[in-house]
Amino acid sequence: MKSREHSTQISNILVVGSGGAGLRAAIEAKMAGLAVTVLGKRTKGDVHTVLAAGGINAALSNVDPEDSWQQHFADTYLEGYGIGEPRIVELMAKEAPDLVEEIDRWGANLAKLENGKIDQRYFGAHTYRRTCYSGDYTGRSILMALLNKANDLNIPIHDSQYVTEILVRDGTCFGAMSFNIKTGERTVHLADAVILATGGHTRIWRKSSSRRYENTGDGFYLGLKVGCKLTDMEMVQFHPTGMVIPEEIAGTLVTEAVRGEGGRLINGKGERFMNKYDSKRMELSTRDRVAMANYTEIIEGRATPNGGVYLDISHRDKDFILEKLPRMYRQYLDALMIDISKEPMEVSPTAHYSMGGLVVNPDDHWTGIEGLYAAGEVTGGLHGANRLGGNSLAEILIFGKRAGRAAADRSKQMDVHLRSKSVIQAAQEKIDSFIKQGSELARPLQRNLRNIMWDCCGVVRDQDKLKTGLEKIADLKKVIKDVDVRLDSEGCDDLVLVFDLEASILSAEATLLSALERKESRGSHQRSDFPNSSESEKVNYRIHLDENHQLKISRHNIQPLEKELQNIVAGTNEINNFEGKLIE
Ligand code: FUM
Repeated sequence: MKSREHSTQISNILVVGSGGAGLRAAIEAKMAGLAVTVLGKRTKGDVHTVLAAGGINAALSNVDPEDSWQQHFADTYLEGYGIGEPRIVELMAKEAPDLVEEIDRWGANLAKLENGKIDQRYFGAHTYRRTCYSGDYTGRSILMALLNKANDLNIPIHDSQYVTEILVRDGTCFGAMSFNIKTGERTVHLADAVILATGGHTRIWRKSSSRRYENTGDGFYLGLKVGCKLTDMEMVQFHPTGMVIPEEIAGTLVTEAVRGEGGRLINGKGERFMNKYDSKRMELSTRDRVAMANYTEIIEGRATPNGGVYLDISHRDKDFILEKLPRMYRQYLDALMIDISKEPMEVSPTAHYSMGGLVVNPDDHWTGIEGLYAAGEVTGGLHGANRLGGNSLAEILIFGKRAGRAAADRSKQMDVHLRSKSVIQAAQEKIDSFIKQGSELARPLQRNLRNIMWDCCGVVRDQDKLKTGLEKIADLKKVIKDVDVRLDSEGCDDLVLVFDLEASILSAEATLLSALERKESRGSHQRSDFPNSSESEKVNYRIHLDENHQLKISRHNIQPLEKELQNIVAGTNEINNFEGKLIE
């Protein structure tokens, strides 16, 4: 097929992204009787959800009977430092138990207690044990259950599809344009509604728990271009424990479940240090606090030989480790020939999760563009300034389902279907504009971007670093025009990389702008020039593209808690005082 030709594919609901949120949305829409198509950039079954390790939260009260959805709400909202969207948090806390039991029935094979109920483990900053799990491969178990369900329902899942554009005319979405990563064939997907489930942007930091080609900010870019807004982009979660070596996989996740099962953090001097930062919760403090603690120990000269801290689970016996943490055991053995039942792991903070994202309506995850919905990490609102581990797997099921239902309802009500040749033509031209000879290569530019974000917008930020980051991004924007993009018999790698790069640059710019604007430290956003949190900064920062394609930032007031939720929060005795200190 010549580059300018395209085939056309029609369905009621188009889902962009074949991870957990996308599949749960597709299943819901299909069960409502509609024709659904799923497009995935990565290979089916090898999407980012498989890396989610330690668990999924639901107040089932199977282990700790005192737990309740109200406590789950309070833990999530308070540890998000009060800037999360209360209704989204409420829905997650209320609906998680049903959806966790459902995914277990669908075959997720979550660990069970002797009485047959789902087991629950500790995860950081949860008042009770509420994290359900399959060993340390919970995301993979959930994804496999969703894939089996989708297969039973005959939902087509097309992988190696790179979506370049959401097709919108006069404020209404009518589909998407994609090309096949292997063959270059282009397809116009016409649909009554589109659901974006494309993940976040944490691959754009040098140390990241995401792999190449995932979490490059595609959904933020696609959404911004058609008029969506982003919220809280500065809120990037640094997981406290990523691998330090080997260099090629530095940043790979070392699951919080290690700490949940008793792992201890120890600095290069042999001191267990968490008592200095959160003496009550120790290693099971919130992620932002543990990440700052690890960062502080490293920066202040108490690092391990390779520049991390130790995470030690060797006081547990090997059988226990193989049952609860089999993937971690294999990961260290394969990469470093370390037996974690005998030796500690070296770890340091790694960019892990985009807590900000597309602004959506809480109940149906509508983006504000007719016919366009979103679910999962691509959206903002649930996590505020700090995400509790295990909440994201709950999020993908709950809001995948809700977005799928809302998209199906819209499709059923539609009478007239919009199409636009000129919008499709413009999408074609956009792809064509990249295919040309140039003097730059996308891969080194991506590496450059990852270094910029790590150095200028890392665990601790300040005005000078953030401004430097923006200047460097402006330079990158100029050279992207000169990237060499060729299609050859090996596929369309250059084209994928240049689109990824454009998406990543826009996402990076949005993140730097928001981080510069928020003149305080709150949760995962730590500024050495504004070390305290400020009441006047208890807002969300939102970003959109103006008519000149420039990013514009605005303050958005936090939704107040309704009376019932206020009472719930008042009734919990959470601590929100970070005992550690910020590095100057
Ligand atoms: O550490 C982990 O297992 C990560 C879980 C999460 O990010 O929810």
